[in-house]
Amino acid sequence: MDAIELMKEDHARISQLFDAALANLDPQARSGLLQQIRADLMTHEKMKQDIFYPALRSGGDQAKDIVIEGEVEHHVIAVIADSLEEVPEDVEQWRAKLKVLKASLDEHIRNEEERVFSRARPALGRERLEQLGHEMATFKNRQGATPNAAGPNPK
Ligand SMILES: [Fe+2]
Repeated sequence: MDAIELMKEDHARISQLFDAALANLDPQARSGLLQQIRADLMTHEKMKQDIFYPALRSGGDQAKDIVIEGEVEHHVIAVIADSLEEVPEDVEQWRAKLKVLKASLDEHIRNEEERVFSRARPALGRERLEQLGHEMATFKNRQGATPNAAGPNPK
């Protein structure tokens, strides 16, 4: 799995976790899901910051623009992860807040996939992306994060 496929899979999984949390009325299950979302978001971001963006940064002028946009997107994720720390107890408020965060996440996913990943693909090339994908998978393993592809589906 190359780096971009891996990051897209993360996006899809985190988005599904949000849906699962929104559909879950049990407070304990909800807070478990939120913790998982938060941990996954943070690993996703750290992995991009430590591996993906440094690789892009060394990819010449074309890649530099992509890095700038990517960093804006990176900030969005940090805000979402922080907001998940304080979630209202009340179910209605909780769902309302989560819906707003989910909308920000979806927007992030759209922007990053359309504007960052699609341009990074030709800038980095197939071989480099495969190599980076491997590094990212190793990174995630070390963090004890949900593995990609072969990993269990979130409940
Ligand atoms: Fe992302």
